[in-house]
Amino acid sequence: MRLDVITIFPDYLRALDLSLIGRAAGEGLIDLRVHDLRDWARDRHRTVDDTPLGGGAGMVMKPDVWGEALDEVLALPADAAAARESAAGRGRRVLVVPTPAGRVFTQRTAEDLARADHLVFACGRYEGIDARVAEHYRAAGIEVAELSIGDYVLSGGEAAALVMIEAIARLRPGVLGNPDSVVEESHGASGLLEQEVYTRPVAWRGLDVSRAWPALLSGDHARVARQRRNRAIARTIARRPDMIERLRPDTLDAADRAALARGGWAVPDGAAGPVELVVRPAVGADLADLVDLAARTFPDACPSFLTAEQIARHVAAHLTPGRFARWLADPRAVVTVAALGRDAETRAGRVGASELIGYSAVLVERNDDDGAPPVGLDPRPEGVTVPPAPDGGAGLAAELSKVYVDARLRGSGAAAALLAGAVRDAAARGVTALWLGTDGANRRAQRAYRRAGFVGAGSRTYDVGGRTCRDIVMVLNPQEAAGEY
Ligand code: ADE
Repeated sequence: MRLDVITIFPDYLRALDLSLIGRAAGEGLIDLRVHDLRDWARDRHRTVDDTPLGGGAGMVMKPDVWGEALDEVLALPADAAAARESAAGRGRRVLVVPTPAGRVFTQRTAEDLARADHLVFACGRYEGIDARVAEHYRAAGIEVAELSIGDYVLSGGEAAALVMIEAIARLRPGVLGNPDSVVEESHGASGLLEQEVYTRPVAWRGLDVSRAWPALLSGDHARVARQRRNRAIARTIARRPDMIERLRPDTLDAADRAALARGGWAVPDGAAGPVELVVRPAVGADLADLVDLAARTFPDACPSFLTAEQIARHVAAHLTPGRFARWLADPRAVVTVAALGRDAETRAGRVGASELIGYSAVLVERNDDDGAPPVGLDPRPEGVTVPPAPDGGAGLAAELSKVYVDARLRGSGAAAALLAGAVRDAAARGVTALWLGTDGANRRAQRAYRRAGFVGAGSRTYDVGGRTCRDIVMVLNPQEAAGEY
């Protein structure tokens, strides 16, 4: 690859003699040439700029000086038509003009430019280069890329050219010592930021990697890779949600989706990419929507032998506005609702951002001053034991009474996000046994709970509209699970 840089400050580019790029140039992997623009100025003062046409602040770089310089470096005649003929068949040549008014230079741009044969960087100073320069070379058949390295203004294109050259050159074969580093790094093919990295000592100033990253030292490559990818997802969620939105669903496996869900992102079936969830405590204004959602989602979780009447009877008796209103007023009941952060198309139709798409309810087993448990708390099944608190104090049980999600978002991760939120809430309230009952035939629900860390703890019978059902009981200690979330 040939790289030319034209600038009024050639010394600025001396940094390219160092490190990887300098070595690559020394080994002939890249042919790097830096030119002083003033060498093409014609007057005694070697003038390269003039005042802007139409007035205004600053100076503009002269097209005639730039034209002479670029013609020589690109070995082109001055006439655009003749230049077009001469440019044909000389490989891919790109004139790069760093400017804050350009398209944003990204890793994709670097990958694209790394495939060119010849790059010429035209570093402007002052208010920039007369716009006819880019126009002329486009007409002459040269690819012109006006590129910005970010939304801020530098005093000239030199620092931007250094940045772009480093990003491009390291992608050329042979420039990097270990070509694998390009694969896993931030902004690489995964579309995620790179996860945190560590080296020895394992414990340093009280910060112990073996505690924060148990898998990392396990020697189990699959576990290490999974934990790394989970951390990359979590970090990208925290720092670059715009990148999460651009992830392609076909690149995400079940574990990715679970990691996204824990971070509050759903991947609705049929949507173009992940959609942020708004998961928040329910408030009084949600009451009507919540009751409606509860009535809509409850039948999905019922065994198939129940009749519509039995289900309707249960909904009318237990999922009433009065029941939800009491929960909202009771600190022992934690009702959480979820909505999409924006409207989204799903395979099952459009879901609006204003709709509630799921809810969860956790009921803490503690009596009030009158000795009464929270309304709707089911008797704790026999198989559920309550471990002590981490400090050795008394443990606390809670029932995960509901995690229900609108059928249009089935499989999207919304349920997992609500579940993760419920576990975090329960952990914060000191719960040591979070238990639930779910239909014994509903394998999908059981799998979801198991993925979240719940384990089987026997069974119970449960009445729905006068019919007895058999539930599987599952339990989890939120104090132990909290680190996983
Ligand atoms: N010249 C001045 N500011 C710039 C920026 N942000 N990117 C590229 N070139 C520039």
